Amino acid sequence: MCSMSSVVRMNTYIDDMVKAVSTRKSRRKFNREGLNAEHTSSLKEFIASIEVPFDSAVDVTLHTLPQGSSVCHFAEPETFVAFSAPGTLTGQAMAGFVGELLILYCESQSIGTCWYGHYKKKNVYDIVYGTTEENAPKKVHSITPVGYCTEKPTGLYDKLTNVMFSSKKNTVEQNLHKDSLKDFSDSIRFGLELACKAPSAMNSQCWYFKVSELGEGYEVEIAKPAGYKHIKWAYPDIDVGTAAAHFWIGLLQKEIQPQVLIEEADDRIIWRFRI
Ligand SMILES: Cc1cc2nc3c(=O)[nH]c(=O)nc-3n(C[C@H](O)[C@H](O)[C@H](O)COP(=O)(O)O)c2cc1C
Repeated sequence: MCSMSSVVRMNTYIDDMVKAVSTRKSRRKFNREGLNAEHTSSLKEFIASIEVPFDSAVDVTLHTLPQGSSVCHFAEPETFVAFSAPGTLTGQAMAGFVGELLILYCESQSIGTCWYGHYKKKNVYDIVYGTTEENAPKKVHSITPVGYCTEKPTGLYDKLTNVMFSSKKNTVEQNLHKDSLKDFSDSIRFGLELACKAPSAMNSQCWYFKVSELGEGYEVEIAKPAGYKHIKWAYPDIDVGTAAAHFWIGLLQKEIQPQVLIEEADDRIIWRFRI
């Protein structure tokens, strides 16, 4: 189990990132041009300021595509970000959490993103590590294009992507574990409402929330159900990490700095927020 109390350097970004939760959606149509110089510099600054409430093993790296190369299966810009971490469940969870902070920051700057768990592996490892997946020091858990979106509707393409990639979200009540408290503070509810809007592969929303009393305070557990499996996606702990990141920034905005524990259970990660 890994834990650390929050020490927050990211305060200046939190309000904008919370706003970004409501506008963010996965974008799959980009102009070819990559990030401009101003956004490149502010994104690098953000990456350097990312601070999380645990000892992070995640590398967040910004890359420019070599001429003629491609890493996504959709229209992509020339710039992308890779989220790398150890190939463990904890690595997945941390990559989801840290990666989602970057996604929200981008949204707050009108930079389009989309989590890609399925990407062109050979090209990505070559660009990120200059070697093969087997020889790379960390696993690239996901990437996201970072760029400017073409907003013009293109009829059939839009219809197809809307059908293939739903973005409809469950409510807090639908996500509550059967043993969870049903009544809790407005701050916890606010954080959980943000967590409901997190992205997940295939929009599986494979998480539950369990609020319990703990001593004089509360514990909020966020995890996938034990034994959960998805036929097309083997890394659901990344998804749970994105929901945990939304919950965390919600609490920070309410000026609550929870203790955060990342517990590795048999086949999954359990996030515990002690408030
Ligand atoms: C870890 C992860 C991996 C994903 N992988 C892909 C992918 O390979 N291809 C893709 O088009 N979308 C991918 N997505 C985006 C989801 O399809 C999208 O988040 C979901 O449909 C919900 O839509 P929204 O992000 O607009 O809320 C991924 C999302 C997450 C969190």
